[in-house]
Amino acid sequence: MILVTGATGFVGRHLVRRLCGAGEAVRCLVRPGSPAQEWLQSLSVEAVPGHLLDAAAVATACQGIRQIIHLGAPILEGRDAVVERVHREGMALLVDGARLARVERFLMVSPLGTGSSAGLPFLRSRGRAEDDLRESGVPFVVLQSSLMFGLDDRLISGMIRLLQRTGLLLIPGTGKTMLQPIWVGDVVSCLLRALTDEEVLDRTIPIGGPQHLTYEEVADQVGKMLNIPRVKIHLSRSAVGWMARLLEGLGLNPFLGYRHLELLEVGTITALDAVRRAFGFQPMPLIEGVAYHIVPRKEMGAPRPSSGAERGSRTRHQR
Ligand SMILES: NC(=O)c1ccc[n+]([C@@H]2O[C@H](COP(=O)([O-])OP(=O)(O)OC[C@H]3O[C@@H](n4cnc5c(N)ncnc54)[C@H](OP(=O)(O)O)[C@@H]3O)[C@@H](O)[C@H]2O)c1
Repeated sequence: MILVTGATGFVGRHLVRRLCGAGEAVRCLVRPGSPAQEWLQSLSVEAVPGHLLDAAAVATACQGIRQIIHLGAPILEGRDAVVERVHREGMALLVDGARLARVERFLMVSPLGTGSSAGLPFLRSRGRAEDDLRESGVPFVVLQSSLMFGLDDRLISGMIRLLQRTGLLLIPGTGKTMLQPIWVGDVVSCLLRALTDEEVLDRTIPIGGPQHLTYEEVADQVGKMLNIPRVKIHLSRSAVGWMARLLEGLGLNPFLGYRHLELLEVGTITALDAVRRAFGFQPMPLIEGVAYHIVPRKEMGAPRPSSGAERGSRTRHQR
């Protein structure tokens, strides 16, 4: 059985669907009151209620588990001290549970740019949590990813919604931050391979899509693809940050959240062939992914291309 934390999040929902589709037995640690709890109940997965700082819940969730995929992340938490606790103490509890259950593999996904000397508190404490895992003796794989996109993502779907409703493309700050967008389905394919692939065991692997693009180039490509009359507006980073804080304070969930803005300021790119080298397949380019996986297919009038996993298994065997 595989334990997934963060199953109700963006990556978690895509991952759990694929695991269930592949017939895997899945258990999820789910925060009581999570907005996606009902969705999870519709699947044949075991759900253990509790958050990452709930020692009893984490211990229960880890019992009898063979692998852990840790995606839970306090991205909506504004207080750095709480973020650090969830990263470090959450990891400590999971590692304890992993040791007791003698798990075969512990996978986690982080943003690129983590490390104990990173500039942002979020990236620093995540980097320390990664170190805790590496030093724990539990077999691990750490994936460090650039920005992900896909159905129900936050940034690109939010950008598309704003564009469709208002004709505006919003660029925070200079828009020059470098990104390497990767389709979430391809990240899930990397995770599925990392569950068993001996070559990636005990490694930290940076991953990203097949293009290096600035934030503004991402927005331009999305705008051009949708072919809607549009006006591009640049707003200062601090103005967008205040708007995000205000909306989050009102309990709303803006597509440019405060933490997301912080993370977007950090350049997150790696080698263009990082996924092919580590996992043997070429990830999907941004516009192909947006066209087929985010914008409803009927609007685009084209068939869905093969998934990263399908394409991946072919290229792997061809190597
Ligand atoms: N999305 C990206 O572009 C991207 C890029 C690079 C790396 N990553 C990493 O990939 C992982 C998954 O990202 P995501 O985009 O799926 O994040 P997300 O949509 O924000 O989901 C976060 C998940 O963590 C859960 N969570 C938050 N605090 C928790 C706590 N205290 N205890 C238990 N669960 C908690 C949330 O549960 P609720 O449903 O209860 O809120 C949710 O299931 C994260 O580690 C993130 O840093 C993401």
